[in-house]
Amino acid sequence: MRSRGAVLRHAPGKFEIVDLEVDDPRQNEIRVKMVASGLCHSDDHMATGDLPVALYPVCGGHEGAGIVESVGPHTTGFVPGDKVVFSFLPACGKCRWCSTGHQNLCDLGALALVGSRWDDPTSFRLKLDDGTPVAQALGISTFSEYTTVSVDSAIKVPADTPLERACLLGCAAGTGWGSAVNTGEVKPGDTVIIMGVGGIGSMAVQGAVHAGAAQVIAVDPVAFKRETAEALGATHSVPSIDAATELAQSFTNGQGADVAIVTVGVIHGEHVAQAFASVRKQGTVVVTALGNVTEVGIPVPLLELVLFEKKIKGSLFGSSSPNADIPRLLGLYQSGMLRLDELITTEYGLDDISRGYEDMHAGTNIRGVIRF
Ligand SMILES: NC(=O)c1ccc[n+]([C@@H]2O[C@H](COP(=O)([O-])OP(=O)(O)OC[C@H]3O[C@@H](n4cnc5c(N)ncnc54)[C@H](O)[C@@H]3O)[C@@H](O)[C@H]2O)c1
Ligand SMILES: [Zn+2]
Ligand SMILES: [Zn+2]
Repeated sequence: MRSRGAVLRHAPGKFEIVDLEVDDPRQNEIRVKMVASGLCHSDDHMATGDLPVALYPVCGGHEGAGIVESVGPHTTGFVPGDKVVFSFLPACGKCRWCSTGHQNLCDLGALALVGSRWDDPTSFRLKLDDGTPVAQALGISTFSEYTTVSVDSAIKVPADTPLERACLLGCAAGTGWGSAVNTGEVKPGDTVIIMGVGGIGSMAVQGAVHAGAAQVIAVDPVAFKRETAEALGATHSVPSIDAATELAQSFTNGQGADVAIVTVGVIHGEHVAQAFASVRKQGTVVVTALGNVTEVGIPVPLLELVLFEKKIKGSLFGSSSPNADIPRLLGLYQSGMLRLDELITTEYGLDDISRGYEDMHAGTNIRGVIRF
């Protein structure tokens, strides 16, 4: 089937709209007509080269939702017309991680930055007109009008789901909310710092609120982001981590935050060190943001790590299990307890994707979303 999609021919590079040929779905695959796709910062990391993929060109996008157009032979669980939200990480349901409640760590994720079929690293579902294979970002490529994916990457949702909002459940919602609730294990009464309140941090704010945090301190240099964070439940907002640390100490008799969650756009070791300094004895630093693949090292005082028993935890997709957590977060949204609409600042056509990323860098979007 013919489609148009946003591809990177190399990195660093810019998204370019090209014609694509999208494979017919094979067994255990579905082809989806996209409705909406969020502009997550991680796709920009692919464009800058922070997050290299194994094959270029690559068609971007990993936070999307759409309607099943066709279903592969002998494939159960989906019929044409079903609404689906993609999970940016596949879940096979059978590996050690899936079967112990950690679908975010499914072994299939090993091929997520190859962009091929899971069972064949030389087989790609998208092609350019001249037959050149095109990798799929995280195996899904939500920046294409149509995309064929493994059923392991798609979650069926009820027919009344507003996909133009629910697309955020494919990455931002689970990642941010789960960074607070699952990875950070925020407890009632906690003091929590969220460092960077863009798309992911805005969901972390809501996760911290749901977990019962008494103080949720949002940190962002951009005033509009701080204002939005407060509208989403942050009790305080400040422009710098130093100010947040002082504030957290003032609420805790000088001890510091219980949990600090790092969701800045481009992470460096120094950000983690700042968050590390902000937490109390036995406090937890959750590292969700991504940076350049080559960067190594966190400049934290080793004695403080040991003597204060502080913890630094990575968080992938908010330590969530998409088959359980995407429906759970959708339920919270539909009952009015989780806010997604407020995160979507601007909608773009596919052809305006570069403007969407320019707006992200300019700090004028919480989340930009492509509407197909
Ligand atoms: N771990 C995961 O599973 C996962 C999933 C999705 C995204 N991510 C990563 O999470 C990060 C955030 O993504 P996003 O889409 O929300 O990006 P974003 O650009 O929308 O938000 C980042 C925010 O951080 C702010 N910021 C920058 N420097 C700061 C600093 N020093 N202190 C405080 N705030 C600062 C920016 O103003 C911006 O509001 C990115 O690195 C992205 O790649 C990780
Ligand atoms: Zn993402
Ligand atoms: Zn698995």
